[in-house]
Amino acid sequence: MGMRMAPLLMMLACSSTPKLTPDTTAPPTSGVTWTDVAPTLASACTRCHSDQGTASFRPFTHYADTAPYAPLMAEKASRRAMPPFGPQLSDWCPTDFHWASDVRLTDGEVALLQAWSDDGAAEGRGAPEPLNVPTDVPVFTGTNMTLTAAEWTTNPNIADQTICFILDPGLTEAGWLEGVNVVPGNLTVVHHAGVRMDYTGEAEALANDEGWYDCTGGSGVAMEYLGTYAPGSGPSEVPEGAATLIFPNTKLVLSVHYHSIPNNPVVDQTSLQLRWAEAPPERLALLMHWPNPPTLPLSAILRPGEDDPDGEPKLLIPADVAHHTETLAVQGPGTPDERYEIYQISSHMHLVGQSSRIWAEHPDGTIQCLGDLPNWDFNYQQIYRYQSDALPVVPGGSTFWIECVYDNTLGNEPLARSLAERGFTEPIDVSYGSGSFDEMCMFMLGIVKVQDP
Ligand code: HEC
Repeated sequence: MGMRMAPLLMMLACSSTPKLTPDTTAPPTSGVTWTDVAPTLASACTRCHSDQGTASFRPFTHYADTAPYAPLMAEKASRRAMPPFGPQLSDWCPTDFHWASDVRLTDGEVALLQAWSDDGAAEGRGAPEPLNVPTDVPVFTGTNMTLTAAEWTTNPNIADQTICFILDPGLTEAGWLEGVNVVPGNLTVVHHAGVRMDYTGEAEALANDEGWYDCTGGSGVAMEYLGTYAPGSGPSEVPEGAATLIFPNTKLVLSVHYHSIPNNPVVDQTSLQLRWAEAPPERLALLMHWPNPPTLPLSAILRPGEDDPDGEPKLLIPADVAHHTETLAVQGPGTPDERYEIYQISSHMHLVGQSSRIWAEHPDGTIQCLGDLPNWDFNYQQIYRYQSDALPVVPGGSTFWIECVYDNTLGNEPLARSLAERGFTEPIDVSYGSGSFDEMCMFMLGIVKVQDP
């Protein structure tokens, strides 16, 4: 009944350094062996880094295969680049959000991996091998529709390929959706997946007779996300008592990013579980995407930036600029006496993107951070959901902000690789668009109005 207080914070740098990840275990700092790191690897890494997982090229289930990579593992773990997870605790956003399906390592676990590497990656007494591969993905209950994508065989000559499958829920009238859950057919090749809505039929028109089209590098159609999947991520659900309105005749687009296995074509058939509400819900879950038709055009929400030509706001990231920032601001729904819960966030950029920050500015000017995402990785786009018992609350009439930071130099490895593949030797000016060498600064919020007590 009682209304939760919004976790407020001012965007002022703290003079003391906050402890970023709360952790109760004091890790050993010397003499660390495989015996000590094995539990962390088994809980946080082997769901992907095993023969059954999407990083099967680099298994961490046996000591002998793993030890040579100890320095690289420590480096990726301390940069919070692995396991892949967007929002991180920071001085800018010290709110300790509870994220659903949080796969982040604690500071203690990072220190343990670092100490293991520093100590020469010894085996010690060893650990029972192979290490466990977790199957603790949260369960999705109440499925009342299952849609199965066409069978698809990976091409061993193409390392990364994204296929968009058209799925038809057969909606003759509007439907109310409570949640979706992607069930990967073959975990060794399904890297991650997204579920979007095609209400215009534009995506469907691109598909072949089998119901799919190649959407590597972008879907080519602006569509709103309903959910995402990555190993360990769990289902995408809206808060209890709420549902998302889906218009009649809407098709769903399941985009599956495949990571192929060299010399070995692999067959996959991924499916999608859905849970529809039986009656219109008490609360409408709003998915707010900017910029994206049919919401506001970019020009209405883009704020002036540092490299704008002629002082006109423009999403333009000049070649050879290593740190370029764009900022967008959008007016949220409601009036200051109302309260809204935020149940999920995500950001979207392309190859030039580096990091993003999302926050709310209340009508009284208070700044409330919603997420600091310091490691943008085009390959791991996900929606991040707050745990249902700890949703941030904002007053109606708040303005939502996103800041995107870009690196348009050859020091940005994914960009350099992609430029080289297309025969470019130098970075090029990048502006707004949906192609791989265009950029975006897109954000998405899931919002639900708090009911009057
Ligand atoms: C959600 C799946 C997933 C999880 C969980 C995960 N990884 Fe990864 N990891 C990958 C994928 C896929 C790659 C290869 C592509 C890339 O670098 O993003 C990779 C690459 C790496 C690499 C580089 C390997 C190389 O030879 O280039 C290291 C090191 C690494 N991960 C360490 C870890 C550690 C340590 C953990 C656990 C603390 C972990 N990863 C958890 C998916 C995952």
